[in-house]
Amino acid sequence: MARRKMIYEGKAKILYEGPEPGTIVQYFKDDATAFNNQKKATLEGKGVLNNRISEFIMIGLMRAGIPTHFIRRLNMREQLVRQVEIIPLEVICRNVAAGSLCTRLGIEEGTALPRSIIEYCYKKDELGDPLVTEDHITAFNWASPQDLDDIIALTVRINDFLTGMFAAVGIQLVDFKLEFGRLYEGDMMRIVLADEISPDSCRLWDIETQEKMDKDRFRRDLGNVTEAYTEVARRLGVIKESGTVTNIEEVMK
Ligand SMILES: Nc1ncnc2c1ncn2[C@@H]1O[C@H](COP(=O)(O)OP(=O)(O)OP(=O)(O)O)[C@@H](O)[C@H]1O
Ligand SMILES: [Mg+2]
Repeated sequence: MARRKMIYEGKAKILYEGPEPGTIVQYFKDDATAFNNQKKATLEGKGVLNNRISEFIMIGLMRAGIPTHFIRRLNMREQLVRQVEIIPLEVICRNVAAGSLCTRLGIEEGTALPRSIIEYCYKKDELGDPLVTEDHITAFNWASPQDLDDIIALTVRINDFLTGMFAAVGIQLVDFKLEFGRLYEGDMMRIVLADEISPDSCRLWDIETQEKMDKDRFRRDLGNVTEAYTEVARRLGVIKESGTVTNIEEVMK
C-alpha cells in the first residue's frame, strides 16, 4: 500500500490526505503540550480517548443540526473529516471563571460568570495565540462580519448543547475552545465546526466533587490525566463501565 501524504503535524494531531479530494484524515496522537509548547509529555491512550470522545460529540452536534467537518471515525486513532479553510481563531466560550480569565481579570477560579462570555485568540504560535477583539478580526480580514455572526451563533448553540450533555452525566462545562473553517460546496461557502472537542479543549469539573477531569490535570501536575479522560469517556457511554487506561484498546465498544 502506498504511503499516505502527510499534510501537517500539529502538537496533538497529524493530518493526512484523505481517500477522496476534499477529505483529510485526522490522526490523534498521545502527545500533550501546554503553556505554548513549553511543557510536553506523552500520555498513553489519550489519542484513542480523544478520537472517541470527539466523534461522540461531533455526531451529537450534527444530530442537533450544527454543521461540522466530521464524516466518520476510521479506527482507534483516526477520523475522516472534510478539509476546510481554517479561520485562524481559537474561539473560547466561558461559563465559569478559570484559566487565563482569572489571571487577566483577578477573578477567583470557579466564580460563575453573569452570562456566557466568548473570547477570541489569534492562532499564531510564535505570538502565543494573543487575545484579540472582533474589531481586529474583521479589520485584518481573518473573518468577515458575516463569518463572525455565524461563528457566534454556532458557538452559543454548541455551548447550550454541550452544557446539557455534560450536566446529564454529572460534569460541569466550565469553558471550551473551538475552531471553525470555511467549507466550499460549489459556489456556496458555509462555516462549519472543525478540529476536535475533547478534554484537551474543554474544562470539565465533576459537579459533586469539583474535581478536574480535563487537561488542567496535566498543566498543573495533578496526576491521573488519562484516568480522568477515561472517566469522561465512560460517563458519556463511549467506553464500557470497566474501561481503564491499561485496557483501553480492548474496552472500546
Ligand atoms: N477539517 C479541517 N481541515 C483542515 N485543517 C483542520 C481541520 N480540522 C482541524 N484542522 C487543523 O489541523 C490541526 C490539528 O492539529 P493539532 O490540533 O495538533 O494542531 P496544533 O498543534 O494545536 O496547532 P495549531 O496551532 O495549528 O492549531 C490544527 O492546525 C487545526 O487548525
Ligand atoms: Mg490543536
